[in-house]
Amino acid sequence: MLLEVEHLDVFYGKAQAVHSAAIGVKPGEMAFLVGRNGAGKTTIMRAISGFTRAGADSRIHFNGVDIANHRPEEIARSGLRYVFQDKRVITKLTVRENIHLAAYPFHVSPKAAVAKICDIYPRIEKFLNIKAGGLSGGQRQLLLIGRALIGNPKLLLIDEPTEGLAAGIIEDVFKVLSQLKGDVSMLIVEQNLDLVRRLADRIYAMKEGRIMMELDNSADSRSGSNLEQFL
Ligand SMILES: Nc1ncnc2c1ncn2[C@@H]1O[C@H](COP(=O)(O)OP(=O)(O)O)[C@@H](O)[C@H]1O
Ligand SMILES: [Mg+2]
Repeated sequence: MLLEVEHLDVFYGKAQAVHSAAIGVKPGEMAFLVGRNGAGKTTIMRAISGFTRAGADSRIHFNGVDIANHRPEEIARSGLRYVFQDKRVITKLTVRENIHLAAYPFHVSPKAAVAKICDIYPRIEKFLNIKAGGLSGGQRQLLLIGRALIGNPKLLLIDEPTEGLAAGIIEDVFKVLSQLKGDVSMLIVEQNLDLVRRLADRIYAMKEGRIMMELDNSADSRSGSNLEQFL
C-alpha cells in the first residue's frame, strides 16, 4: 500500500465528523471517495494531508512512513499533495506567476514548472500571461491539478475536481485525470458517478462519517454495485 489509513477519527470540538475510517491506495491506483454533502469526505482528505487533526488512535502511513498529524508542508514535500475543494488561485497574479510561486517550495525551476503544467494541459499556454482571476472554474481546476504535480508527487488527493463545472470542461478534467492514471496514484472525492465508474480502480463510499463500502471496480463488481444509495 502507498497510503494506508486505519482507525481514522476526526473531531470538531466534541462533534465527531469521521469514525474509525479505513482507506488504502496501492501504487499506481486511482481510488475514489464518494458520499453526500456533509458525509466527511473533505475532513478525511484534510486529515490525511495534515490540515486537520487526526484523533489519537488514528494510523496514517504514506510510503511506509507514519505521517499522522505531521505538518502539511512536510507531508507535501514527502510526495503527498492535496488539491483543495475551493479551487482557489491567486487571482491578482498571472497564471505564470501562480505556477512560479508553487514551484518555489519544491525546489523546481520556474521554467520546468510551467513546462510541466503545459505538458498535462497544453491549452493553458495561451493563458500564461493573464491574471488567474480571469480563468474559468475548469481552467482553474486544471491549473491547480497541474500545480500539485510540481515536484512529481507519488500521491495526489483531489477534492471534488468537477464540482460546479460546465459539462464541456468536465470532459477536459476527465481527460487529464485519465492521462495521469497509472503515473501518479490518486485519491479523488467525486460526486459524478459516471466519471467515477469510468476511472476508478477502487471506490470508497461513505455516509455520516463512516466508510460503508469498499469496492474493487473490476468488471464483475461494476454491475452489482449500488453506489447511488450514497448520493
Ligand atoms: N471546520 C469545521 N468545524 C466544525 N464542523 C465542521 C468543520 N468542517 C466540517 N464540519 C462538519 O463535519 C461534517 C463533515 O464535513 P465535510 O468533511 O466537509 O463533508 P463533505 O466533504 O463530505 O461534504 C459536516 O457535518 C460538517 O458540517
Ligand atoms: Mg467536501
